[in-house]
Amino acid sequence: MLLLPLLLLTDLIPGADNKRGHEHALHGPTSFHVIQISSFVNSTWTQNQGSGWLEDLQIHGWDSDSGTAIFLKPWSKGNFSDAELTEVVEAFRVYFIGFSRQIQDRVSEFELTYPFEFQGIGGCELHSGETTVSFLRNALGGLDFMSLQNNMCVPAKEGGRRAQMFCALVSEYQGLLNIIETLLSNTCPRFLLGVLNAGKAELQRQVKPEAWLSSGPPPLPGHLLLVCHVSGFYPKPVWVMWMRGEQEHPETRQGDILPNADGTWYLRVTLDVVAGEEANLNCRVKHSSLGGQDIVLHWGHPTYTMVIILAIILPTFILLICLTLWYLRRRSYQNIQ
Ligand SMILES: *[C@@H]1O[C@H](CO)[C@@H](O)[C@H](O)[C@H]1NC(C)=O
Repeated sequence: MLLLPLLLLTDLIPGADNKRGHEHALHGPTSFHVIQISSFVNSTWTQNQGSGWLEDLQIHGWDSDSGTAIFLKPWSKGNFSDAELTEVVEAFRVYFIGFSRQIQDRVSEFELTYPFEFQGIGGCELHSGETTVSFLRNALGGLDFMSLQNNMCVPAKEGGRRAQMFCALVSEYQGLLNIIETLLSNTCPRFLLGVLNAGKAELQRQVKPEAWLSSGPPPLPGHLLLVCHVSGFYPKPVWVMWMRGEQEHPETRQGDILPNADGTWYLRVTLDVVAGEEANLNCRVKHSSLGGQDIVLHWGHPTYTMVIILAIILPTFILLICLTLWYLRRRSYQNIQ
């Protein structure tokens, strides 16, 4: 019985056209990952950056000087005890130091030239119910380098001979691989469930977008660039389209969904039309927070702002005239007396 309203609700969000989008829109994020960026500047200088993310929301930072985690949300610790957190943070601290040293010691063996950069991502994703999938991938200089599959280091094709050497080296440290395996397939899912629950109020919130229209610089003489701005919505999945009447306009161009400072999102959707052909155009916005009540803004119609301005200016103007008349009449009476 519960399923039917849910299915109906998901049908109202055509922008979330894949299954994962639906889940995201209704239940918030479903994965946690840690990102490592290690910049090797020269033989004595390595800079490690670390961060923890629930999909595109950062909830952890890393202070590389002190080797400690920074908890960016009041609920970033999930349901882990301080003792368990200390243990995990210590594992990361040792890993960062060990990783930098191992790479620095093998720069000439791996034929690396300064400066170079390693990027790593590892985490887990919740799939329907309680099953989780873990992942760990590494890149060198922006190219795939290696990944961990079934607790084995698999060199990426793009990584060439270097990645094969790296994996051969990693395989010698079975103890390290076992720790990583435990972190990925045990610690990560437990942490993810705890943090999703602790941050539920923020992660599952629904914030309605505001939308407004403007015109941009015309791309060609005799053309108009119509801009539809949609801002302040959460969660991220959104559907915005320029329409002619009820018909989706195929020339609609969608920008990237950009973050606002308060954690909500912004999107700009444009349409290039020949001047004079802007009749019957409207911008339609669908979002999970709107409960099926799409926002529709008509191009060329007086906007609400103008209506509001008129509603304020007109009475003020009338009041001013009345006051002036009253004042003038009073003065003429005084003159008579
Ligand atoms: C390494 O880079 C740092 C930071 O740019 C610099 O201060 C240091 O002198 C460099 N060391 C060597 C050996 O080049």
